[in-house]
Amino acid sequence: MKAVGIIGTGMYVPDRILTNGDLEKMVDTNDEWIVTRTGIRERRIAAEDQATSDLAYEAAVRALGSAKLKPEDVDLIIVATITPDMFFPSTACILQDKLGARKAAAFDLSAACSGFIYALATAVGMLKSGMYRNALVVGAECLSRITDYTDRNTCILFGDGAGAVVLGEVPEGRGFRSFELGADGSGGPLLKVAGGGSRLPASAETVESRAHYIQMAGNEVFRFAVRIMGSVAEEALRKAGIDKKDVDLLVPHQANIRIIQAALSRLELPEEKCMINLDRYGNASAASIPIALAEAVEQGRIREGDCLVLVGFGGGLTWGASVLIW
Ligand code: UT7
Repeated sequence: MKAVGIIGTGMYVPDRILTNGDLEKMVDTNDEWIVTRTGIRERRIAAEDQATSDLAYEAAVRALGSAKLKPEDVDLIIVATITPDMFFPSTACILQDKLGARKAAAFDLSAACSGFIYALATAVGMLKSGMYRNALVVGAECLSRITDYTDRNTCILFGDGAGAVVLGEVPEGRGFRSFELGADGSGGPLLKVAGGGSRLPASAETVESRAHYIQMAGNEVFRFAVRIMGSVAEEALRKAGIDKKDVDLLVPHQANIRIIQAALSRLELPEEKCMINLDRYGNASAASIPIALAEAVEQGRIREGDCLVLVGFGGGLTWGASVLIW
């Protein structure tokens, strides 16, 4: 099987910034609480005329540019999102059309904040099997559209944005070494948007009861996240046959600084070996890992041969980690 790795990265966040100070005017909260409990200072909010595919398009164009690939060369597009433009067609198909990636198969993948790692695992498997030569994998979200800005437990956390990678063949010894994915559907009720699906179709009642917004049992999700982030990263490292002391950069899901610190402590890694940008973007669900990765590349924090661990958790419940050599 050929070696498959990341050959291009790109990110895009909308211009509008929502600060903790702005949230103080909307709900009963304050900057000090938000910063100490989450590490978040501000997040980006999509413009009224922007949908998830628009953010995905900007990130994808940048990733294709950095991979020096034309849209018509792309074989496969996977968009990980829980905020698609609409039920169907998929955001990946909308993106395929916007890009003019005529040859590409395209579909969305739903695994909440673990979506990008699930999508990577899917695309890497297809590339390694020889089915396709390259793939565009995007994590993109407009979480502001499903965030209840009257609920202080959730509205302080989420932001909008998109990150993209191009996958292709890389020299032997580089690229993806392992994936570890998991799910526990019994924890589904802890983090959900209940309304608008086949169980609870959109109606005046679902709007009235705010069922189209994110509902979360923050504490329980926090405890699950602290438990899973370190252990799933350790399992991916074990599968890759790489010791945790040889990790050069951890790129975690950007949900809460305290969750990231717990993972760092379990992996015995210093904060310098971790990409953290949640202070500026908040939690952008499936977009958070590819945005952090693209920023790490932009900032020159990743060198050829570096060992990276990507790790995330989210609604489902789901979790996932991947080890790769850059
Ligand atoms: O991608 C996955 C998405 N989900 C997550 O990552 C969420 C994981 N969970 C968390 O990050 C944390 O649980 C939160 C940041 C959501 C909450 O932090 P916490 O330390 O677990 O706080 P808590 O829920 O235990 O609340 C502590 C107190 C409560 O007041 P009382 O009952 O002690 O009087 C809350 O009502 O803080 C209060 N509180 C707030 N106060 C000011 C909750 N939200 C706020 C707020 N501002 N925004």
